[in-house]
Amino acid sequence: MNQVLLLIATVMLACGSVNSDNSDGNPGKEVYRTYCVACHGADGKLKLNEAPDLSRSEMTLEERINNISKGGSMMPAFAEVISEEQIQAVAVYLDELKEQD
Ligand code: HEC
Repeated sequence: MNQVLLLIATVMLACGSVNSDNSDGNPGKEVYRTYCVACHGADGKLKLNEAPDLSRSEMTLEERINNISKGGSMMPAFAEVISEEQIQAVAVYLDELKEQD
């Protein structure tokens, strides 16, 4: 069991260092690159597992924070995975995906 946890921690550390390379020092972007790209894609448009196009989301900041915390039918509830500060940061970062549109 401990070995499994150690392995997971090592993999997460390895991923973290890769992700921080392209996060531009933006904590929200770092969270996004670590936890969200798998389904939403770097630009928010991947739509894997029927994820909505985040660059076209019309949710308010508050709604996004709520949605990210609680998750959806396919999306995991991130309140159990990352801190409140990280949820806030990534919710703010989603606005940058819209500006690229
Ligand atoms: C396992 C795939 C998956 C991951 C990982 C994931 N999402 Fe989602 N997301 C979805 C799906 C699918 C939906 C649509 C609601 C549902 O059915 O769960 C969604 C919906 C959303 C919405 C609502 C958009 C709208 O306008 O309806 C937001 C905002 C969002 N995700 C942000 C995030 C953020 C931020 C992260 C990373 C912290 C993330 N998601 C990680 C799959 C994912």
